[in-house]
Amino acid sequence: MVMPTECDSEEQTKLMAKNIEKRKQSLPEKLQQGATAATDWMQDSQFWTSVFRPGSIFRKGYTDSPRNRSYVIMNSVLYHLHPVKVKRHAVKVSYTLCLGGLSFFLFILLTITGIFLMFFYRPTAAAAWSDIESLHTQVSFGLLVRNMHRWGAHLMVISVFLHMARVFYHGAYKAPREFNWVVGVMLLKLTLLLSFTGYLLPWDQLSLWAVTVGTNMMGFTPVFGDQVRFVLLGGKQIGAETLLRWYVLHVLMLPFTLVIFLAIHFWRVRKDGGISGPL
Ligand code: HEM
Repeated sequence: MVMPTECDSEEQTKLMAKNIEKRKQSLPEKLQQGATAATDWMQDSQFWTSVFRPGSIFRKGYTDSPRNRSYVIMNSVLYHLHPVKVKRHAVKVSYTLCLGGLSFFLFILLTITGIFLMFFYRPTAAAAWSDIESLHTQVSFGLLVRNMHRWGAHLMVISVFLHMARVFYHGAYKAPREFNWVVGVMLLKLTLLLSFTGYLLPWDQLSLWAVTVGTNMMGFTPVFGDQVRFVLLGGKQIGAETLLRWYVLHVLMLPFTLVIFLAIHFWRVRKDGGISGPL
């Protein structure tokens, strides 16, 4: 027979005390303990650690330190759009009037409504106008979406222009942001070109004559004016070729180029140290 030693009895007393303590726990406490154990188990699993990179706020033991904040931004595609730190004035609506953000919002709205319109519009001289007409009368929400697209386009031109005016007024075009100003000028041009190419698509009298006037003006480009006009019209005068050409520019080439310039624009805002400070 093995006699219990002093040490064993001490262990037993501790175990008994623990059991009594456990029994004393209320149900919510037990549930909370269970939930913590389950969370720990999940966060330690290989699945979890391979999905959430070091520094992620979903990792076990995340602490709000400058290093972890940088990790969060570097490891997350979504958070990559946000800086690690934001200057106080940068989040004041009164500083930027949110005009850059508003322009971006309008671009997203125009993309979504534009895709909707593409389902019902054919860029041919025979079908274009009647497709617009049936969009008004036969397509559910057709008139609403068309008007959202049209008004959105007007608003975007206005908001991009006002955003540029805000940047100029704040002197934010100066070093180190002069490159972003140039990128901005490209964005303004692309916005205007998108607006102008879209104008032809309804294929009504207004658009026909507006484009005739516009391309005649471009025909006065020094030295190779005639060639510019020919390329833009797809012929000697406005016709079905012009419509197809401007449609491709409007739905594909210009938005695609604008997205590339937008990515550079946003990237530069971050790299130039966030938005400029008040003068
Ligand atoms: C599609 C058009 C455009 C979009 C969506 C856009 C978007 C933005 C956004 C979101 C910002 C961050 C701060 C803010 O909201 O003001 C910004 C900053 C800036 N933008 Fe634009 N922008 C566009 C066109 C332009 C134009 C036309 C210019 C000038 C010619 C320009 C020049 C700048 C500059 C220099 C900054 C930095 C401003 C600062 O640090 O205070 N952008 N832009």
